[in-house]
Amino acid sequence: MKRALLVVGALLLGVGAVSAQQEIVKERQTLMKSNGRALGGTLSAMAKGEKPYDQAAVEAALTVLDETAKKLPTLFPDSTKGLKAEGDYSTSPKVWEDKAGFDAHIVTFAKAVTDAKAKIKDLDSLKANVGGIGKACGGCHETFRLKI
Ligand code: HEC
Repeated sequence: MKRALLVVGALLLGVGAVSAQQEIVKERQTLMKSNGRALGGTLSAMAKGEKPYDQAAVEAALTVLDETAKKLPTLFPDSTKGLKAEGDYSTSPKVWEDKAGFDAHIVTFAKAVTDAKAKIKDLDSLKANVGGIGKACGGCHETFRLKI
């Protein structure tokens, strides 16, 4: 364990540029986790009746998703190609092989969030629109996310 820590420490010191890239990998993972909380923990949970409807919480969750959609285009620079996230999921190399396809998924996702923001006013409209967001998440994951 101690040795492993020393090796990790040496790597961090020696390869500052790589660790800066690793920060980006971490940032996108953190953002995706907050996406998961916003959609699963708030919007879907309310749509399923597991939580009471709360307009302020809906708007906060949609704002999280909106901010993610805006950041996503900057979070997959070429320099992070091949770097692995720590955890269950990683980014597929397809992100860099088909950048246009990936970017199109970001646009679809951003649009689903903007549409939902305009439409969700109550439980019924939440139920009607939450699926569109989920589909945009899943559409991107299907091709561009790898289970480790
Ligand atoms: C444009 C593509 C794209 C969209 C849209 C997208 N994701 Fe992801 N997601 C990824 C990629 C790539 C990964 C794997 C790398 C990573 O963790 O950043 C990922 C990882 C994740 C993870 C796993 C994080 C972890 O490592 O624990 C969760 C949870 C997640 N996404 C939820 C969502 C939710 C919920 C939405 C929609 C609200 C969403 N994502 C939209 C591409 C996308």
